[in-house]
This record gives sequence, structure tokens and C-alpha cells, in this order.
Amino acid sequence: MSIISTDAAHAQNIPSPTVNWQEQGVEHSAPWRAENLGKAPARVQVVDDSLKADQAYRLACEGTGLLWRGDFHNARQLLQAMTRRLERKLPKTAADPTEAFHLHRQAQAQRARVLGLLLIQLEPDYSIKLRRAPDVRLACEQALGTDNAWSAGGCVMSLRELQGLIGAYEWRRKGVSIPALGGVIHPHYGVFSPVRGEYIDLVAQAPLPQAFSAPSADGMLAFDIGTGTGVLAAVLARRGVQQVLATDQDERALACAQDNIQQLGLTEQVQVLKRDLYPEGRAALVVCNPPWIPAKANAPIEYAIYDPASAMLQGFLQGLAAHLLPGGEGWLIMSDIAEHLGLRSRQTLLDMIDAAGLTVIERLDIKPRHGRAADSSDPLFKARTAELTSLWRLSAA
Ligand SMILES: C[S@@+](CC[C@H](N)C(=O)[O-])C[C@H]1O[C@@H](n2cnc3c(N)ncnc32)[C@H](O)[C@@H]1O
Repeated sequence: MSIISTDAAHAQNIPSPTVNWQEQGVEHSAPWRAENLGKAPARVQVVDDSLKADQAYRLACEGTGLLWRGDFHNARQLLQAMTRRLERKLPKTAADPTEAFHLHRQAQAQRARVLGLLLIQLEPDYSIKLRRAPDVRLACEQALGTDNAWSAGGCVMSLRELQGLIGAYEWRRKGVSIPALGGVIHPHYGVFSPVRGEYIDLVAQAPLPQAFSAPSADGMLAFDIGTGTGVLAAVLARRGVQQVLATDQDERALACAQDNIQQLGLTEQVQVLKRDLYPEGRAALVVCNPPWIPAKANAPIEYAIYDPASAMLQGFLQGLAAHLLPGGEGWLIMSDIAEHLGLRSRQTLLDMIDAAGLTVIERLDIKPRHGRAADSSDPLFKARTAELTSLWRLSAA
């Protein structure tokens, strides 16, 4: 069975992986819906409220999928009990930040593997036929869509993933308040959420480039590369930039940015485009907030956090000079967390900037304000307390 995200499988018309199990002597199968785990469990056992947490934990550690037929609320409690058992077994964190990071990633992967094996079956309309099950239809429709193979045949997914999807639905419904916009951004499932406000403040406050004052055939044009929810494009538009072309490669990000731009009433100024990095042409300002950590993503949903081999960062820097108008600026938004984790040195970043034919005009720094920076139980606490987020003002040398 291939490890392929079910969305990707659907998009490519590849038969989806299935979960097979036996129930009351009859063979059953259903499509496996997995964003974070990929591989469908090869062995699946039907279980209910009589299953003890120790037993569930042991079976999951051995790789057995546990298809839940009991009370939904009890399944949530069982998941918590399994989490506690797993946490007792996880290796202690290391003093060395790089080692602590790798241990943390390993622990995350192990947590996803083991806890992802408590399974829930969803009906074709995404309802759940279990006692005390919540109504997750809207949450599933928003995250998974209504016109794909999954909704047609129902599916099996992990309870942990379902919980993530319900959480994302709440985030999207409530939205994230963005003071620089005097409004709210609604992140969609799987799209980078702008919960860390400090990088947005940098974009809201940095001086706009001189090139905006020189009349150009394009008027005041800016690019936002990797727009995610569209938040930075919206901030630029609110700052008076007349035209912003906002790009992304990810379908969910594109739909999300489009929705937000519409709800903020900025469709005249911001256009959302599917592009690999840059749109055609040149602009007076190009902003980019690439993922900050150069490491392998364990799941598609992590691509907005991890930038394997700094590919997006390199692509942005190398294309910048060719996309700037004379006197234009590139704004690279970057935290130095990778430096504190020993994953990329400051000199490497400076060398990349130099090799792309760019000069640093100025660097604006801000301290993160998010809760995890103050959480001493976080395995990456040491790096997080030292972290600075910067806006690098770059020009073509
Ligand atoms: C860290 S998120 C930043 C999102 C948003 N700009 C913000 O600041 O909240 C990076 C975004 O870049 C997008 N991305 C990654 N590689 C890309 C590429 N080659 N071309 C366009 N977008 C890309 C991701 O899908 C993601 O939405």
C-alpha cells in the first residue's frame, strides 16, 4: 500500500488506500482518510467500551488499528488515557537544542503513529453513528469537501485527526483578530494560521519602499509570495498599496486567502493567484514569510512550518532581484529559531542573501509574544526564549 495523502490520491485519480476489517464474521472495507498519517493500518480490530486503556495502548504500539464502536465520549477519554501512557514512555528532552529538536520531532511522529490508531467511521454525509457523537458534518465538509470520493463512500479516519479538524473548524468560525487590519482573519483547515501577531506588526510598520513614490505603469504594485490566509496581502492593501498579487501553491491556502480578501472587502486591490513562488513581472515591494524551520515535514499539513532544505527561502531569494522594480524592496519575514536550534547559521542565511545578488538595507526585529515562548515545559523552550522575529529589507545589489 503506498503512502499517499488521500487528497493527493483523489486529485491524481489513484485508488485510495482502504482500511479492511472483519465484523461479526463479515469482511468490510472503507477508504482511509488521513492527512497526517498517510499509511492505512494493515491490521484493524473492532473495539468498544470494554477495551481497557492498557490493552488499547499495547495494541496501538504494535500497529493495530482500533475501530471504535462504543460511546464517542469514552473514545475521547480512551485517547487521553493512551496519551498519558505514551508521555510516560517518551525520552526526556536534551540540553543541547539541536538534539532537543530532533527528539521533539521523533516524539511528535511517535505520538501521531500510536494515537492515530484509534479509528472512527464516518458515514457518507460525515455523520458518526456512535452514542454521544457530536455533529461533525459541517467541520468535515469544510475541511474535506463535499464532492469527493470520501463523501460518496464514507470513510475511516483517526479520532485524533477528527479532533484536529473540529478544532480547525472552531478557529475558522471564530477567526483570529488582527489589530493591524482592524479585523479578523479566518484560517481554513491546513492553512498557516497567523496566531503569532508580531510578524504582522513588522509588515504593518516597516517603511514602504521609495519606489512607491515614483510613478510606474503598474501603479503601486506588491507581491505576497506564499500568502496562506492572505493576511500580509491584506495588511499591505490596508496600508494603501493599490495592487497586491498574492500567490500560493496550496489549494486550501488559495481558497482561504480568496475568502478572507473578500470578507475584508479588498477584492479590488488583492488578486490571489496559483503560482510556484512568483507571478510574472516586477513589483516595488515583494513580501515573503516562508516556513522558518529547515527540516523535513512529516505530513502535508506541516509544509507551512517546515521548509525542507530551505527550498522556499532559497527560491524566494534567488528570484527576488529579477522581480523587483528599480528602487524596490523585498521583505523577508524570518524568525531566527532555526539558528537557536542549530539547524541553519546566521552566516548561511547571509551567504544565501549575498549569493542571490541582494543587499540588506535594514533589519527590523521584534520579540515573539506567543504563549509557547513563556512555556518552560516546552521541549524547545530554550530556543524559543532566545527567538527574535525579523523583517529583512532587501534590495537588488
Ligand atoms: C509560513 S506560511 C506563511 C503564510 C502567510 N504569508 C502568513 O504570513 O501568514 C508559508 C506559505 O507559503 C506557501 N508556499 C510554500 N511553498 C510555496 C511555493 N513554492 N510557492 C508559493 N507558495 C508556497 C505555503 O503553502 C504557505 O501558505
